[in-house]
Amino acid sequence: MTISAPPGVFDILPSGIKEPWKFSHLWQYVEGVIRDTARCYSFKEVRTPLFERTELFLRGVGEGTDVVSKEMYTFLDRGNRSMTLRPEGTAPVMRAFIEHSLQQQGSEQRLFYIAPMFRYERSQSGRYRQHHQFGVEAIGCAAPEQDAEVIDLLYTLYRRLQLKGLAVSINSIGTAQCRAKFRTALVDFFQAFVAQLSPDSQQRLQSNPLRILDSKDPADRALLVNAPSIQDYLSSEAKEHFLAVLASLDLLKIPYKITPQLVRGLDYYNKTVFEVVSGVLGAQDSIGGGGRYDGLLKTLGGPDLPTFGFGTGIERIIQTMIGQQIAMPAPPSASLYIIPMGEAARAQMLLLAQRLRQAGISVQMDLAGRKVGKAMQLASQLGVRYVIVVGERELESGVVELKEMATGSVQPIAFHLLETFIQEI
Ligand code: HAM
Repeated sequence: MTISAPPGVFDILPSGIKEPWKFSHLWQYVEGVIRDTARCYSFKEVRTPLFERTELFLRGVGEGTDVVSKEMYTFLDRGNRSMTLRPEGTAPVMRAFIEHSLQQQGSEQRLFYIAPMFRYERSQSGRYRQHHQFGVEAIGCAAPEQDAEVIDLLYTLYRRLQLKGLAVSINSIGTAQCRAKFRTALVDFFQAFVAQLSPDSQQRLQSNPLRILDSKDPADRALLVNAPSIQDYLSSEAKEHFLAVLASLDLLKIPYKITPQLVRGLDYYNKTVFEVVSGVLGAQDSIGGGGRYDGLLKTLGGPDLPTFGFGTGIERIIQTMIGQQIAMPAPPSASLYIIPMGEAARAQMLLLAQRLRQAGISVQMDLAGRKVGKAMQLASQLGVRYVIVVGERELESGVVELKEMATGSVQPIAFHLLETFIQEI
């Protein structure tokens, strides 16, 4: 019996897969644009381990969140310590920041990561048990312009990838004090309608009432129309911060919609929260999201520094690009395919291939001793640009016929000129 990949995970391959969003060259392309965008905004890369002590997520993300209470891949290691596969990137980056006293390297740290995350979610289209995020964490700046700048980074990334029709939803969930008052008002309001709430929201009413706000259940949504709004419970400082963020977004011409129901699913947020949705993703329409999470560093035993960041799913980016039929690069293929005929040619061509590769040219060679016809067929399947067939005659004359596969045109060229010729094209 063959063994398949577990449910909810997938392979990223150069070919042989039905869904085009799993082609590795598209991932490389998107990751390239991500890295360049991060560079333009002066964010530097961090790589943290795939697993962390479970406690980091219990304390950092919050025990009442779905991610922590229902979705973590947690196991005991052989030393009987509880470990968890990273379900999100913010808490690990904060852990690394504290552990290495990064504040000593400068009062502001701008960090990013491209990394797999693991969540035991009900697997369905657009929702995976291993997904990949590009995330940024801006540490050390409380200014509202920081919020806008990071949202601008994400928006610029999407624009560079030519994504269309994205909507930025934004809200302020205030400080812990604002939320405490709002929570009481919300619980009071829902007490009269407990029986009408969905079973999930009945549970949330006990554990995390704010999460009722972004319930997708139609009965919950109907009740929410008249529910109290967090906007009415913001302190004047939180309100001022929010208005200043919106003013900066206006300045940067980033369209947004104030969405008072937006609360997000992780406990560490305060003040600004935002999400970007894509029209082509169906039920799992959130392509990216984040917010301010001042206080998390302190909760984890670090300095009390302000923090703002986001995470965006790379699967969902590529799926949106394909859904919107955005032009993407073709899969890469070798510039030159060499078909050697006979032992002497094999040895000489192995050397030539090495020389061309050292000059940065992508070369593939038939090492299996195929007949010319079969090797040509393979070269054509591989989509290579040029082919040369090299036998004794070519070795003696030092000249070979260079065939351009797209046009079928052939031209003689000396071996020692191949490098310059192919590079010049
Ligand atoms: P999050 O909203 O849980 O935030 O995830 C960020 C993005 O990851 C989502 O918008 C979505 O595109 C993608 N994503 C999440 N779960 C899945 C899944 N199961 N399958 C496919 N894609 C998924 C965070 O994780 C925060 N750490 C973001 C952040 C960084 N906030 C501040 N800094």
